[in-house]
This record gives sequence, structure tokens and C-alpha cells, in this order.
Amino acid sequence: MNFELSEEHKMIRDAARDFAQTELLPGVIERDENQTFPHEQIKKMGELGFLGMMVAPEYGGGGMDTVSYVLAMEELSKVDASASVVMSVNNSLVCWGLEKFGTEEQKQKYLIPLATGEIIGAFCLSEPEAGSDATMQRTTAVDMGDHYLLNGTKNWITNGNNASVYLVIAQTDVEKGHRGINALIVEKDMDGFIVGPKENKMGIRGSDTHSLMFTDVKVPKENRIGEDGFGFKFAMQTLAGGRIGIAAQALGVASGALELALQYSKERKSFGKPICEHQAIAFKLADMATEIEAARLLCLRAAWHKDTDMDFTESGAMAKLFSAEKAMRITTEAVQIHGGYGFVKEYHVERMMRDAKITQIYEGTSEIQKIVISRSILK
Ligand code: CAA
Repeated sequence: MNFELSEEHKMIRDAARDFAQTELLPGVIERDENQTFPHEQIKKMGELGFLGMMVAPEYGGGGMDTVSYVLAMEELSKVDASASVVMSVNNSLVCWGLEKFGTEEQKQKYLIPLATGEIIGAFCLSEPEAGSDATMQRTTAVDMGDHYLLNGTKNWITNGNNASVYLVIAQTDVEKGHRGINALIVEKDMDGFIVGPKENKMGIRGSDTHSLMFTDVKVPKENRIGEDGFGFKFAMQTLAGGRIGIAAQALGVASGALELALQYSKERKSFGKPICEHQAIAFKLADMATEIEAARLLCLRAAWHKDTDMDFTESGAMAKLFSAEKAMRITTEAVQIHGGYGFVKEYHVERMMRDAKITQIYEGTSEIQKIVISRSILK
């Protein structure tokens, strides 16, 4: 078994690292503080192909594999998880689902501008009463013949205000349970669609998270993804891939925090020597590095499963569960190693600790990942 990355993969990783250092690092503290969406940075990410990495070139994408995507996600997330979540949602939850299940017309109209980064997309599943229990959709899409009439509210939607295209999951036939759910492509300027206020979040504060309200929004039938009633499976399959992206985001937040902790521990002296020479700190660093390496292997394994058309639901959930839990632990340790400096904004690790928390929550909480994994291994 060869664990070495190919030259092409190394180039992609290095390009992402370079972009993160030169374009994302400047201003990252202020964007977090002021909750400023990284407009300029996202535009450049689109131009460089980060927003549609895995989409086929004929639809405006980079035609890259999921391993490349994981490598790039890690590098960008080391520096700015608010920018990388935009990339993750656009690639995994919006472009991937449209490319895999969309019609040719939907791909021409929506996928191409999404993959090139001309516009960005949002994935709208969560509701006030349907987070973990995703079948409990209250948003309705009533079949009116040539269109659906969409009514309801979505919560916690990433890219909520800055998206132009929204993949909305809604209930068409409540009698049919999850088989009565549809996924619809909704455009921002459709009548009856209102973006609610921005959430004031603990972490990933540069990303825009909003509730969305739909009142009698007419969505043409041709905007349904897949057959009637395919919406829940669409959401589950899309999320299964999305979890690999969030796993890589958590990995990046953790490895970014370790890099800062390593650097700080070599510079900071106490009791006459750099703190990294104290075993109390060296052991922490060793644990952090080992856990990050394990998380990276899980992420790359899930990506490889997806690239080789193997089932990636279980391995993606494992990667997300492990990486998110470790991101929380490792960023907390990084703050501890920095001592008082870790508690102030200039040193970045307090932001990383706040950003890490969301990786245990979105695209399925850690508890949801355990449900997915346990069902899979008990099957
Ligand atoms: N692939 C394909 N089909 C799947 C699937 C998958 N990964 N998972 C489930 N299904 C299918 C099942 O086969 C089943 O179909 P049949 O009845 O035809 O056999 C159907 O879907 C229902 O499956 P379950 O009975 O397993 O469904 P459940 O109600 O027990 O729920 C769950 C399963 C895993 C808990 C699911 O509800 C879930 O994933 N919840 C979490 C939702 C989530 O991740 N929300 C995050 C919101 S998006 C977000 O966070 C984006 C962002 O902003 C960054």
C-alpha cells in the first residue's frame, strides 16, 4: 500500500496552501470579529477553480477527484474555516448533487455558473423542527401540475444570503413519509422567497447563516431533482459526500491549530527553555500530531472510497465523527499551550476553537454520525 501523494495531488495541496497564506490569512481576524463574508476571497477561489473542483470540465469544473478536494479543504481550513465552508457547501452539497442527479437542462442552467464560481449555492434541509430528524420536513411543495407551490421556513442555511441558487428539500405528500419528499432548485429572485436575518454565531462568523422563508413560491416542475419523491434520498446521498468535506474542514482546523502550537512552543520560553522541551507540552504535541494523522487517513480513505465508486457513507461518517471530535480537542489543547495568549484574538487559536465546534454539529451532529456508523456495522 502506497501512502505517498501523487505529484498532482501535492501540487493541488501546495496551491491551496499558498492561496490560504496569501489570500485568506490577511484580514481573517477582522472578518471573524465583524462577521464579514469573504466576498473577494470567494471570488478568487472561484477563479482558481476551488468552488467546483470535482465537477467535470464540460460543466465548468476542475474534473478533480475527492482526494484533491480533501487536500485543498484541509489547507484552506487551516487558515479560514469561514471561507472553506462556502467551498464545501458549493462543491459537495450543491454541485455534486446537481451533477449526479440533475437533468442536462439543470446542469447547463445552474451547474455551470456554480462550478465556475460565478454564483454560489445553498443546501436547505434544516428546519426549526427538523434538524437531526430530517424526515420531519414541514416545508411543503404542493404539486400544482406544471409547478410546485413552496411554503415554509428553513433554518441555519449556510450561504443563506450570498447564494443565488438554493436546493430546497420539501414535503409533497406527507402520507408517503420520506418517499413523499422532493428536492427543488429555487432561485433567489423567485417571488415569495425572503432571506431572514443573519445568525450571530459562535464560530465560522465570516460565513453567512440565515433562515429562509418561502411563501407561495412557484417553482417550475423542471426544477425538481430526480423522480417525484426522491428528495430525501437525494439529501442523504448528498450529505454522505458532504461529510467528507466537513471532515476535511475539521482536519484543517485541527492541523492549523497544531502548526501554531508547534511554532509558539518553540518560541515561548519558561523555566529557562522553550516550552516544547517540557514534557508536559511535548506529550500534548505528540498526541495532537498522532490524532491529526489518524483523522487525515480517515478523510483520505473516505475520499478514495468515493473516487473508486465504493460505498462512502460509513467511511465518510467515521471521518467526520473522528475529525470533528479531534478538532475540538486539539484546538482546545492549542489554546492551553498558548496560555493567556491563546485566549486573545491575535494568536488565532481561540477562533479555531470556536470554529471547531460547528464541525461537531453541522451536516449531522457527532451523534448522527454514530447512528449512521452503527447502522452500517450492524447491518
Ligand atoms: N444514501 C442513500 N439512501 C439513504 C442514505 C444514504 N446515505 N441514508 C438513508 N437513505 C435512505 C434509506 O435507505 C431509506 O430508504 P428506504 O426506506 O427506501 O429503504 C430512507 O433513506 C430513510 O432512511 P432511514 O430510515 O435510515 O432514515 P431515518 O429517518 O432513520 O434517518 C438519519 C436517518 C441518518 C438520522 C438522517 O435523518 C440524517 O442524516 N439526519 C441528519 C441530517 C443532517 O445531516 N442535517 C444537516 C443539515 S445540512 C447542513 O448542515 C449543511 C450546512 O449548512 C453546512
